[in-house]
Formats: sequence, C-alpha cells, structure tokens
Amino acid sequence: MQERGFVHEIVGELKSGKEATVYLGRSPLGDVAVKIFRDVEVRSFKNDQRYQDGRWIGDARLAKAIRHRSGRGRRALKALWAAHEYLILWRLWQAGVSVPEPLVGPEAFDIAEAGEVVLMRFVGTPEAPAPRLSDAVLDADEAASACEQSVGLMRACWRLGVVHGDLSAYNLLWWEGRVVLIDFPQAMDREQPGAQELLAQDAKSLAFSFRRLGVAIEPEELLRRVTEED
Ligand SMILES: Nc1ncnc2c1ncn2[C@@H]1O[C@H](COP(=O)(O)OP(=O)(O)OP(=O)(O)O)[C@@H](O)[C@H]1O
Ligand SMILES: [Mg+2]
Repeated sequence: MQERGFVHEIVGELKSGKEATVYLGRSPLGDVAVKIFRDVEVRSFKNDQRYQDGRWIGDARLAKAIRHRSGRGRRALKALWAAHEYLILWRLWQAGVSVPEPLVGPEAFDIAEAGEVVLMRFVGTPEAPAPRLSDAVLDADEAASACEQSVGLMRACWRLGVVHGDLSAYNLLWWEGRVVLIDFPQAMDREQPGAQELLAQDAKSLAFSFRRLGVAIEPEELLRRVTEED
C-alpha cells in the first residue's frame, strides 16, 4: 500500500479485534483506517463455510486449498474477505448509506491488487477515534437517535440486497451524532440461502444491544420495520 502510494505512513495500531487489526494511517486523501485481516486460524466467521465449500468462489481447487488451510489457501481467503468487504462498502457507499468511504476501487481490478488489506476513510480524528456504540457514553436522546439510525441503516442495507451478518453495537461507530456501520466480510446477499435467518439474527442482537443502551425495542418489531414496504 505504501509502495503504491495509497498510504504515506502508518501512525499506529488503533484496535486489534478478533478478526482483524485496524491501523491509523495517513494518505494523500487524509486519515485512513487500514484493516488487515489476521491469519485464518484465529478467525471464526459464522459464514466462512460458504468460502470453504466454494459456493461463493465458484472454484473447486481454491475452495479445497482454503478448506485445507494451506499457505496459499489462507492468503487467498484473506484476499477474498477484503475483496468482499470492499464490494459491499462500495455498494452501500454509492447508495449514500452511512459507512466509511472505501478508498480502493470500485474497479474490481484495483480491489484485487489491494490484497488482504481494506483501506477506508477514518471515522473520527486521530486524537479521538469514533467510539463504537458499545463504548460510547450516550444520553437518552442520543441513545434513541442511535437506535433509530441503526434500524434505518439495517433497512437501507436490506433494500440494497445486503444482510450485514454481525450486527451489534460493536460494529456501529458513533461520530458527531451519526451512526456509521462497519465490518462487512461476513455480509451476505439477500438472495443467498440463509439470508433471512441471518437478518433475524441481526435484528435480535441489535435489539439486545439497544436494550443495554436503555432503548427498549423488540426484535420482532425491529425486523418488521426493516423489511416492511413503504
Ligand atoms: N473506518 C474506521 N474508522 C475508525 N475506526 C475504525 C474504522 N474501521 C474500524 N475501526 C475500528 O476498528 C475496530 C475493528 O474493526 P472491525 O470491526 O472492522 O474489525 P473486527 O476484526 O471485526 O473487530 P472486532 O472483532 O472488534 O469486531 C472497530 O471496532 C473500530 O473501533
Ligand atoms: Mg467488528
């Protein structure tokens, strides 16, 4: 990324999650978040199965390499996660959904060359990175607004054919009164088998997250609002 001029400098590690490490970087475009996937061994994506059995890739040899966790397979898998995250980010960003602006692509060629790294606009400032909703301190009005916005984001995704698949206050950032949705490698197409169940699961964990923030909303009600027609 540095050699190719996408990033000037890595300022430091922002957060090491269970699936990736996110760094703060500086680029010609300003502050960027650099998300680098961890090695496969420590990851546990609920939907990894579809990468492993080749449904998503459509290539039996690659699927086999991934299943066997060979060096090549692992590298390929991380690149697939990154590419998948980019494609979803672009789809949502171009439709005006509140997600970090992706900074490589939207040409599939450019994304393929980016490898195992997802480069996106940094949310917050280097001194005060945007907190996750799970860490943010919100008053009652802010919590209510965050809940409304989050339901709106989930609905916008659904309408664009995307099911997030790991939705909770851990994957929602809070910045200047706005909610920003992040973390998409496990996201699914609405038409894929299992997408409806995943959506219901997201509604459940989102409702649970908001209960902890003091906003009472039932998962069924939340799901109805996400899927109802105008
Ligand atoms: N664009 C961004 N701007 C600012 N911070 C970000 C950005 N993207 C990610 N982060 C921070 O990095 C953390 C990890 O990112 P992400 O959720 O995408 O990876 P993850 O491996 O799933 O982490 P986790 O296991 O904690 O969910 C986020 O919780 C958030 O604090
Ligand atoms: Mg996450």
